[in-house]
Amino acid sequence: MYKIIQKVALNPTVTKMVIEAPLIAKKAQPGQFIIVRPFEDSERIPLTVAGYDRAAGTVDIIFQIVGGTTMELNSLNEGDCVHDFVGPLGRATETEGLKKVCVVGGGVGCAIALPVARKLHEQGCVVHSVVGFRSKDLLILEDEFRACSDELRVMTDDGSYGTKGVVTAALEELINAGNQYDLVITIGPLIMMKFVVKTCQKYGLKSIVSMNPIMIDGTGMCGGCRLTVGGQTKFACVDGPDFDGDLVDFDEAMARGTMYRPFEAHAREAACN
Ligand code: FES
Repeated sequence: MYKIIQKVALNPTVTKMVIEAPLIAKKAQPGQFIIVRPFEDSERIPLTVAGYDRAAGTVDIIFQIVGGTTMELNSLNEGDCVHDFVGPLGRATETEGLKKVCVVGGGVGCAIALPVARKLHEQGCVVHSVVGFRSKDLLILEDEFRACSDELRVMTDDGSYGTKGVVTAALEELINAGNQYDLVITIGPLIMMKFVVKTCQKYGLKSIVSMNPIMIDGTGMCGGCRLTVGGQTKFACVDGPDFDGDLVDFDEAMARGTMYRPFEAHAREAACN
């Protein structure tokens, strides 16, 4: 059992929890994830490591309350325990040798992008961050990004905060201002990552995307998280979650993602009743 040390609502639908998990905190790296099961009879869900404190022995998770299992997780409070917390799983984001990187996060994907930006900053890399949200109400982690970014652009779809527009507009502006990035790392909704990759391709830039498909076991055995990357089948849980943006078949990944929506709606209704 893993104790919830802190619980904070970052916005009306996104929650941060700090979990006591010393063995995971010792090894966790940005880009890796945890399989979480709130109660013994809950479904397993993958949540990316949003931060860790090796000395305190804690791991941060940030999740959007979108379905039955995240509603169950959000029903727990400080002092309660989550039943299973397994990890760290997946490959860490590769940051070695990078000198100047643009990190592009969208929505709750910013929670995954933040530790990557922090690690790059700590190793002396110049970090430009672009974060996008639908509106000001949904903004998260602005101060945290500001602390580890040499430049930060905040975008909102409706213009209620920062600059009105999509993240690709800010990315293009930064590139056109003469910034030469070794790499663009993007984490967020599939459609956003697809268009960030297209923007990078237009300027001949390399991109890395973080894929977060349906996962079940998280160990490469169930096949639930399969993706097509460079014409080959890959499993996000063991081969990723990071992949070369140029090689990912986003259209297939988006089609697979929508297959499970009716099941998710059913689970959400069951959790509400
Ligand atoms: Fe089962 Fe990846 S979650 S193979």
